[in-house]
Amino acid sequence: MQPLRERLMTRLLTAEGYLSGTEVSQDLGVSREAVWKHIRALRREGFVISASPRKGYLLLDVPDVLHPGVVLPSLTGAFGRPYHYHGVLSSTNDRAKELAHAGAVEGTVVAAEEQTGGRGRRGRLWHSPHGGLWFSLILRPTVSPAEIHTLSLLVSLAVVQGVEELLGIRPDLKWPNDIILDGRKAGGVLVEISAEAEQVHYAVAGVGLNVNITFFPEELEAFATSLKIYTEKETCRARLLGVILKTLENSYFRWCREGFAPFLKDYKERLCCLEKEVVVDDAGRVFGGVVLDVEAGGRLVLGLPDGKTIHLSGGEVTVREGSGP
Ligand code: BTN
Repeated sequence: MQPLRERLMTRLLTAEGYLSGTEVSQDLGVSREAVWKHIRALRREGFVISASPRKGYLLLDVPDVLHPGVVLPSLTGAFGRPYHYHGVLSSTNDRAKELAHAGAVEGTVVAAEEQTGGRGRRGRLWHSPHGGLWFSLILRPTVSPAEIHTLSLLVSLAVVQGVEELLGIRPDLKWPNDIILDGRKAGGVLVEISAEAEQVHYAVAGVGLNVNITFFPEELEAFATSLKIYTEKETCRARLLGVILKTLENSYFRWCREGFAPFLKDYKERLCCLEKEVVVDDAGRVFGGVVLDVEAGGRLVLGLPDGKTIHLSGGEVTVREGSGP
């Protein structure tokens, strides 16, 4: 069962009008004094709650937190249950891998307000201060390790579709899974798996999205952006998380059955590097060429200056100056 504070928050968030102190204390099986104690604690966390001796409690404003009491009411599917919440964590992917190793079920989510050791692709550090959306989802896909490659593309597509649904803006994607606004990186996806030759034990899909962040360290300033910088508005991260998880859940089970092919059109429509001149750095092997296509298996098809075509499974794409983002 959820802790009392979360159940109280859920009641406040879903109440139509005032929540009677007597009724809620009976429902939750605690004294009215205990309810009042938790109301005061919630106020200290930034919740604005009006208390009237005759009418009860009325929630007037919710702080931008990823607390389960705020997130759980916005979840409509199975993804996000169980939900593990941390104020500060080294890396949600690391914690999710520990949980997955210990048997956590598919759909389990680990979220943190802040990461001190957030990790990006290719062993890079991921800047993860308060205000971003940093979470990891445990999946147990019944696909072979060879088929898992497109999962990160699928996750990045669900993230931009979720952003579009909630905010009405349409971020681009840069192969394989960078989330781009105005040519700058607003987010990314890091999928890590545990597998044997024939079987995937689990996959952890880590999502990092710069939501309400406005300052970046000097070395990132020229390349990074956020939803807040782009929209000039704060976004409710709890609602965004709910929408992204729902979108991903809808596409994930189809991907398990049919692979990435049904999603390729939507993915390619959002791709900012298609038909652009790029440089691809694939673990030190550097290729210049034009992006011709992305295959259903997730590989990038690059046309080289000598007319040859190569197919790349991984790499860092930089779109050449004057050729687009
Ligand atoms: C990238 O390099 O583009 C991928 C970045 C992924 C960052 C996210 S934040 C949540 C999760 N935990 C991590 O340590 N990394 C991922």
